[in-house]
Amino acid sequence: MSACAQGGGAPVSHAPADKVRVAFTLNGAPVEVLAAATDRLIDVLRGALGLVGTREGCGAGECGSCTVEVDGRAVPSCILPAREAEGRSITTIEGLGGPGGELDRLQRAFVEHGGVQCGFCTPGMVMAARSLLRRNPHPSPAEIRTALAGNLCRCTGYVQIVAAVDAAGHGADDGGAHG
Ligand code: FES
Ligand code: FES
Repeated sequence: MSACAQGGGAPVSHAPADKVRVAFTLNGAPVEVLAAATDRLIDVLRGALGLVGTREGCGAGECGSCTVEVDGRAVPSCILPAREAEGRSITTIEGLGGPGGELDRLQRAFVEHGGVQCGFCTPGMVMAARSLLRRNPHPSPAEIRTALAGNLCRCTGYVQIVAAVDAAGHGADDGGAHG
């Protein structure tokens, strides 16, 4: 898999026979990559597009560490064919926060409540929580646990993570995903 353009990059005049151009919105900006049939979304994100915040754990759709938002919905990027990104809006962990690298409210809550230890699960957890808060701005702890059931964490025991999402939700006037 290779990139043919990223943001304002140079356009490509042709694609290799086994690859097709895939154009989508990534963290608010238009991008275009060349993707083989076997490329997964996580491959193009971490590879051609250089966004390594999305982590690969199981590679089988079972651990949640690779979670990104696709049209506002949390999706494991390890099982989504890259070609299915065509025309969609994708948000990764790099798309959160402010222009100077400031953490958003949800990210700050993870830090403040100890929801980050080794951090490997964290980008996926944050993206899944963000999707939940978009749908349900003030979820109960039980709803948070249900929404994050597909995201595995070996470190925190989930108590701190649930507390972080709960705090973000209760401090939110916009779903907790921003500000
Ligand atoms: S790496 Fe995608 S769900 Fe585990
Ligand atoms: S913080 Fe280590 S796996 Fe979650």
